[in-house]
Amino acid sequence: MSPKKITTMIKSAAVETAEAYYDSSQADAFYQTIWGGQDIHIGIYSGADEPIADASRRTVATMADQLVGISATTRILDLGAGYGGSARYLAERFGCHVTCLNLSETQNALNRTLTEDAGLSERVRVVHGDFENVPEPDASFDIVWSQDAILHSGERTRVLDEVRRVLTDDGQFIFTDPMQSDDCPDGVLQPILDRIQLSTLASFAFYRAELAKRGFGEATIEPLTDQLRTHYARIGQELQNNYDEAVGRSGEDYVDNMIAGLQHWVDGADRGYLAWGILDFRRAS
Ligand SMILES: C[S@@+](CC[C@H](N)C(=O)[O-])C[C@H]1O[C@@H](n2cnc3c(N)ncnc32)[C@H](O)[C@@H]1O
Repeated sequence: MSPKKITTMIKSAAVETAEAYYDSSQADAFYQTIWGGQDIHIGIYSGADEPIADASRRTVATMADQLVGISATTRILDLGAGYGGSARYLAERFGCHVTCLNLSETQNALNRTLTEDAGLSERVRVVHGDFENVPEPDASFDIVWSQDAILHSGERTRVLDEVRRVLTDDGQFIFTDPMQSDDCPDGVLQPILDRIQLSTLASFAFYRAELAKRGFGEATIEPLTDQLRTHYARIGQELQNNYDEAVGRSGEDYVDNMIAGLQHWVDGADRGYLAWGILDFRRAS
């Protein structure tokens, strides 16, 4: 059966693209195997040979260390939650409640199964939806969390409006996002943008300015762009090393496009055109 689509609202073209992409069996197979399955974001590597899964988990743990005033009653919203690895980590470590919002029902189905298997269904809720139109009430979360997902939006200011709306007055917004550098020249990222079918990436300067307009103060911005470079190179290498199996699961076109796409990110990072890091903002009450 094909995954249920979001039909109750008008979706932007970028949302349609992301939903079709992440729901596809080719992408699902790739993210579940080569990328790691639970955590499908950029890792923070302590050494060149560290397993991708360990580095990916370090990103979650590093962000979690920055959470303010967290307890069993804290309500967290994870925007673009993938297979829910971070949500389960947070619920297990802090006993808090996490809502996973994600537009891929393919990923949500596995998230629900993994969450149930971990005995965390009481604390981790999986919601099918779009972060440009968050289907949650105003001021209903203490923390909004997101990892490497907002890049998929064609209307990022709208996502930030939604973050502001659903957060309490003293809430925290902590996230990572693959971005362009603040001084990136026009046009140089076209191969990356074409592949993700978007016309822009955000930047540290974009988030600083747009979040300030919405009443957020900057706690820390930790630039870690070298980790983006390392991670995409490692995923590309993993794909080459397991080429035949990956082709068997996702098809030659998908795998070849992915290898070429990852190389564009590595080249972009080497030329200083990209940015990635942990951004931690707090509502100034
Ligand atoms: C690179 S994955 C990261 C997943 C997860 N945050 C993690 O770190 O494991 C990007 C995620 O963003 C989700 N996504 C993309 N556009 C979205 C949208 N408009 N609304 C909700 N989720 C979205 C995708 O379905 C996918 O799960």
